[in-house]
Amino acid sequence: MGHELIGRLLGWASVQAEGGFWMPVQGSTGAVVVDRIFSLVLWVSVFFFVLIVSLMVFFVVRYRRRDARDEATPSPRHNTLLEVTWTAIPIVIVIVIFVWGFTAFLNLNVPPANSYEVLVTGQKWKWLFTYPSGHVDEDLHVSVNTPVSLVMTSEDVIHGFYVPAFRLKRDVVPGRYVKLWFRAVKPGEYQIYCTQYCGTGHSDMWAKVVVHEPGGFERWLEEASNFLKTMSPAQAGERLVRTRGCAQCHTVNGTAGTGPTFLSLFGHQVALEGGRTAPADEDYVRESIMEPQAKIVAGFQPVMPTFKGRLTDQEVTAIIEYLKTLK
Ligand code: CUA
Repeated sequence: MGHELIGRLLGWASVQAEGGFWMPVQGSTGAVVVDRIFSLVLWVSVFFFVLIVSLMVFFVVRYRRRDARDEATPSPRHNTLLEVTWTAIPIVIVIVIFVWGFTAFLNLNVPPANSYEVLVTGQKWKWLFTYPSGHVDEDLHVSVNTPVSLVMTSEDVIHGFYVPAFRLKRDVVPGRYVKLWFRAVKPGEYQIYCTQYCGTGHSDMWAKVVVHEPGGFERWLEEASNFLKTMSPAQAGERLVRTRGCAQCHTVNGTAGTGPTFLSLFGHQVALEGGRTAPADEDYVRESIMEPQAKIVAGFQPVMPTFKGRLTDQEVTAIIEYLKTLK
């Protein structure tokens, strides 16, 4: 017990099966490596801090000026053995830290060739994960013991992708792609944060890594990809609004964003630029999605991109059914 407690406090051994006093759980193979290097640097620093400060205090006390008539003894000019020692030992230590740290850095940055690739998109204010099947999800689902590589980018501003349990952190930047990879070692759920202040919703920019048992991931992906069949159209539409970028510009709470709110839209008359009005029926919503420039709502800019080819008929229908529920 006492031994294990000391091990936990010092951060070594099989410490973090459940998370230690200092560190979160070690959820990936990379986390183990990162923690070992961190512990090495930490304890080397602590050792030399204690050594140097103790010697300093000792010398200050031992060789203090006891009498005003004391004269300083001349310092020795040179001590080759001492100087070689205090140069060689630190060089060896920093070389060990560099080689170990740099190798681990490279390993953590180069995904294995057989890794499962997921696209990660940061946007205000959520993470979206696109799987090879084309399915888009708000959480990152993976299989245990499988190398997963993340190809990450941002749609708007700089976000920071951070999974403490995997010791994984990288900024995602609009206009470029960055990569990370990991191999989760234990089924469970782990928190994802955003670590760059990206605006009002920054602190809500959460997601989960869900690590499945062997076989569970495939079942989940199959079921999640078929949400149009398994959910009601309105539920599926709500999901599509969140995951396909609609919610970035259109709120459902009545406040105007870049585009008009979806609240109480369906079934009402919409005032258009130029003084005309149009009834917001099924055809209006469909046209607004497929040809957004056809009718511009009064007070808004014609900035919406077309979703032709990006949403299927079935998906558009689901979104329409969802809008009907927003009264
Ligand atoms: Cu995204 Cu902070």
